[in-house]
Amino acid sequence: MDVQLRILRFDPERDDLAHWEEYAVPAEPSDRVLDLLHHVKWYQDGTLTFRRSCAHGVCGSDAMLINGRNRLACEYLVKDAGRAISVEPVPGSQVIKDLLVDLEGFWDKYRSVMPYLVNDEVPEDGKERRQSPDERERFDDTSKCILCGACTTACPSFWANPDYVGPAAIVNAHRFIFDSRDHATEERLEIMADADGVWRCRTIFNCVEACPRGINITRAIMEVTRQIEIRRP
Ligand code: SF4
Ligand code: FES
Repeated sequence: MDVQLRILRFDPERDDLAHWEEYAVPAEPSDRVLDLLHHVKWYQDGTLTFRRSCAHGVCGSDAMLINGRNRLACEYLVKDAGRAISVEPVPGSQVIKDLLVDLEGFWDKYRSVMPYLVNDEVPEDGKERRQSPDERERFDDTSKCILCGACTTACPSFWANPDYVGPAAIVNAHRFIFDSRDHATEERLEIMADADGVWRCRTIFNCVEACPRGINITRAIMEVTRQIEIRRP
């Protein structure tokens, strides 16, 4: 069968505005939308530009708006997307070309929350920092993040205020704030308590719907908020 694939194209060297282009692409129901994009790029128009790397839902690089919702192109199947599929860059981000958006601001915010374990103490046995299964479970959900940015770019609070640190950065702060081995909780809560931190969340739940890893992002944001309230009454 053929799928009608509509792609929002924009080339800053040629276009003043983005415009739709349509492609008829042969596809099987089990193909991913990423396969369709590859077909266009390899056989119809080599100028089509998009990010992807692993093609297996691990690297998070191919988040895009497919049929109006933030999804990973490598995970979304033709049998679920239908025979008329639209693909656009994720919203709320500067388009560099076609489906490629500028994520520098996203990475700056990620880096700002200290997304790494802080612990300078030598472990008791000199080798390992031990953790019980329950302690590990405390941040299991947020440890699944693949940094695709689907949550942040789907968030109306982020669209309204690009300085908002955003759900993805909060998820990654949560992952370390609730890690029993980490010693930088206060610093991270200080960052989260900023005017552009967790308070910008309006519990709209777009992030939860957009997350390809099924992370309960709103719950994570609420848990970080609660920690700030407990420690800074
Ligand atoms: S929380 Fe989910 S949607 Fe947000 S960056 Fe991580 S994996 Fe992507
Ligand atoms: S290409 Fe890596 S997550 Fe889709």
